[in-house]
Amino acid sequence: MRKKIVAGNWKMNKTLAEARALTAEVIQLAKAELSGQASLILCTPFLYLHEVNSLLVGTGIAVGAQNCSEHDSGAYTGEVSAIMIQSLNVPYVILGHSERRQYFLEGGALLAKKVDKVLAAGLTPIFCCGEPLEIREQGTHEALVKKQVEESLFHLGEDAIRRVVIAYEPVWAIGTGKTATSQQAQDMHAVIRQHLAGKYGKPTAETISILYGGSVKPDNAKELFAMPDVDGGLVGGASLKARDFIEIAKGI
Ligand code: PGA
Repeated sequence: MRKKIVAGNWKMNKTLAEARALTAEVIQLAKAELSGQASLILCTPFLYLHEVNSLLVGTGIAVGAQNCSEHDSGAYTGEVSAIMIQSLNVPYVILGHSERRQYFLEGGALLAKKVDKVLAAGLTPIFCCGEPLEIREQGTHEALVKKQVEESLFHLGEDAIRRVVIAYEPVWAIGTGKTATSQQAQDMHAVIRQHLAGKYGKPTAETISILYGGSVKPDNAKELFAMPDVDGGLVGGASLKARDFIEIAKGI
């Protein structure tokens, strides 16, 4: 069976004290109310990875980074490499989030390099794809998402692709309160899975977790996660409140 995952993407939010408090609350609620149906991941700013990871020891909850460099080390001021992330025992790295694509001009070829670095460090990439509103309105969203997956993942061999988690996040649904319907999510997830099956074969495609992201909330999570190709969620705004995050995880 595919792994069910609920990952929180804190983005650029929280001070250290707030990060500690949020982590403590997530731990306490998860322990009291969840029974391990989903793997929980907290993707924090780089600065807090070490601290949050220490707090999470023994809880079964994992920590993740939100980006990494395409280089291993060297004169790249302000950058953080996959090897550095690995040295903190952080197992996950979000790559290709639409905000990175939009504000930091990250494209498919660059993301392919980052995917390689994350895998080479033994970590799991959570690779994001998704279309902006105008592409959805033009009706070319499936072609665009297939291209995003091809450009950054299709150079991988079969063993490597099995280690990737994909997150489909329609840009028009991120932080807007406008969620894709569960059918819209399912349709795109099925397209992604079929595309993976075309390249790697159905048995391999069936092992890859595909998360939905974009205004996942406690009141829509259950319906989204009930879809056959939706294996969990990547949660932004609602992951900043422990109660909401845990209610979402209960939807698995
Ligand atoms: P949102 O963000 O849940 O606030 O829409 C999701 C994301 O950007 O990963």
